[in-house]
Amino acid sequence: MNVFDFYNGHTKVYGIIGNPIEHSFSPVLQNTILQTTGFNGVYVPFKVEEKDIKKAVEGLYALGFEGLNVTVPHKISVMNCLCGIDETARKVGAVNTLKRTENGFKGYNTDILGLKKSFSINKIEVKGKKTMLLGAGGAANSAAVLLAELGAEKIVFVNRTKEKAEALKNHISSFYNGKTDVISFDDIYTYEKPDIVVNATSVGMGEGVWQSPVKEDSFFKGIEAVFDVIYIPWETKLLNDAKKFGCKCVNGFDMLIYQGIASYEIWHDISVSDNMAVEIKDSLSQYFLKGGNNK
Ligand code: ATR
Repeated sequence: MNVFDFYNGHTKVYGIIGNPIEHSFSPVLQNTILQTTGFNGVYVPFKVEEKDIKKAVEGLYALGFEGLNVTVPHKISVMNCLCGIDETARKVGAVNTLKRTENGFKGYNTDILGLKKSFSINKIEVKGKKTMLLGAGGAANSAAVLLAELGAEKIVFVNRTKEKAEALKNHISSFYNGKTDVISFDDIYTYEKPDIVVNATSVGMGEGVWQSPVKEDSFFKGIEAVFDVIYIPWETKLLNDAKKFGCKCVNGFDMLIYQGIASYEIWHDISVSDNMAVEIKDSLSQYFLKGGNNK
């Protein structure tokens, strides 16, 4: 990149707010997208305390920011600082993308769009299928709304804290006509076999790396596809177990890349071509292979 071609008086500015923010992959992802598409823009991270969220959003708007991403722990609280919220984001109950409008920022949720794209390019067909969703936190919320929107025949909610699974089931049932159930992790081995399993728990990453929320791997026998929202490690124990039983296994990397591309598309009102998306993905896979953003 030649710096003379970028960062002049016309440069558009984007950013991400969260806390912590140091480990966010979004600055690398979004600056790669800006560079690949040749857009004169820059994307920067901001650590913002919960008490400052309103001031930060107003300040970034006043400074002319074109778009923002929002990450943990602000994805819900930021909804009070916006001039509008997209219908799907409202259903998910969380926002991760803000687009500048005349009246303020409007909120969107591209986690669900990234997951949808990952299902599509990895040929996970949800319509008419029995699905099992592990987890009931933020990631599970997006996954549940998507499974409902894609027309799953059934969604079975599994979570360590049963009340959270019940709450998610009740929320989804308010707009979804398919079958639902809530079971515990102990019950999954004897319950009717699902076609598709989505892991949206955090088990398998960080301190729990090489652990799986599914203790008996024979559970995976006869399951068509297993999706794990985790992408570090590239293959979790859960996916490794599922692979042994011939399940189609997809990790969270495509979801990550495509949620970022979806934010870019919303900010610019354009559609990034499949070829360009693959180019972006290839650059970022190289980056991951070299060890990621530890500097
Ligand atoms: P995210 O935004 O990444 O989804 P989260 O909202 O903190 O993160 O949700 C984490 C999910 O992983 C939750 O469903 C959590 O279960 P609880 O609701 O019972 O907390 C699940 N999870 C985390 N650690 C777990 C563990 N050791 N065993 C089973 N589930 C676990």
